[in-house]
Amino acid sequence: MTILGIETTCDETSASIVEDGTRVLSLVTATSQDMHVKYGGIIPDKAARAQLESILPVIKESSQNTDIDAIAVSYGPGLIGSLLIGVETAKTLALAWNKPLIPVNHLVGHIYANWLENEKLPQFPALVLLVSGGHSELILMKNHNDFELLGSTRDDAAGECFDKCGRLLGLPYPYGIYIQDEAAKYNPKNHQPFLPRPMLDQKNYDFSFSGLKTAVSNSLTRHPSSELAFELQEAITDVLVQKTLKASEKLRPKSILLAGGVAANKRLRGKIQGTNVFIPPSRFCTDNAAVIASSAYFNKKSVPLEKIIADPGLTVSSVE
Ligand code: KG4
Ligand code: ZN
Repeated sequence: MTILGIETTCDETSASIVEDGTRVLSLVTATSQDMHVKYGGIIPDKAARAQLESILPVIKESSQNTDIDAIAVSYGPGLIGSLLIGVETAKTLALAWNKPLIPVNHLVGHIYANWLENEKLPQFPALVLLVSGGHSELILMKNHNDFELLGSTRDDAAGECFDKCGRLLGLPYPYGIYIQDEAAKYNPKNHQPFLPRPMLDQKNYDFSFSGLKTAVSNSLTRHPSSELAFELQEAITDVLVQKTLKASEKLRPKSILLAGGVAANKRLRGKIQGTNVFIPPSRFCTDNAAVIASSAYFNKKSVPLEKIIADPGLTVSSVE
């Protein structure tokens, strides 16, 4: 079964054709990131206008001469203006081509990066660390379409913490990757940790990252920016990895899956190695349509067009 996936939740316009949920036949992504660099962040209205310009060329390029069986679109969470472009375009194509349309929760989509182009597929139950710009969640995935939310962030998401601290350090947008680059300039020999590791000692699976931003802000004059970037990356990844391993010891999942844009972080990827740990290639971690098509294949619920509505506030619990 061949599915055309469409992803427009934020500043990426992406279309992809995926066969049987695992084989990526095409993936084309345009981003309006360069435009946002100028402003130091995303301007939702400008992101939506960029989506409008890119959506048809991106779909056309990705779907050349391929017969498809269904269309999948991420309908939330995200920026409403951006979401509407993808959702309404997908509905129009589904109507014109007479194909079923499968709505996909963007967060669930991220998890399916682990099913793409991989010789070994994840086994259930799987423990998922989903870390993106807006979400930090530990999820027990018992099967396709069967999720239990174990814990989530009480304030800022891990990606948001990278982003806010990157801005404090005077790094360019998109901040996460620049923190990683800045941290790589630091020589960690004799390094002494100085930032907190929030909620690490607590028994729950929740996170809290907003305090780190304040701590970084208070340390700005005392440490060079490469040291601060290094220590921040250590603090965030220590908490993410240790909480995940704690959940793994308790729940004994068959697989541990990394997902979301922050899963592209090299330090996080390096710290969480293991035989049952799945670490998708970075291009499938950040926003892309291949994961949307894959998720649609495994969950296969087509919905009447009039019932598919962009939903900016969608959460993982919406699919529990
Ligand atoms: O999943 P994603 O592409 O978009 C959302 O759905 O939010 O995640 C974007 C987030 C941003 O906060 C960005 O700074 C972070 O992922 N990110 C990284 C890296 N690459 C992207 N954070 C740390 N290190 C990276 N290499
Ligand atoms: Zn995302």
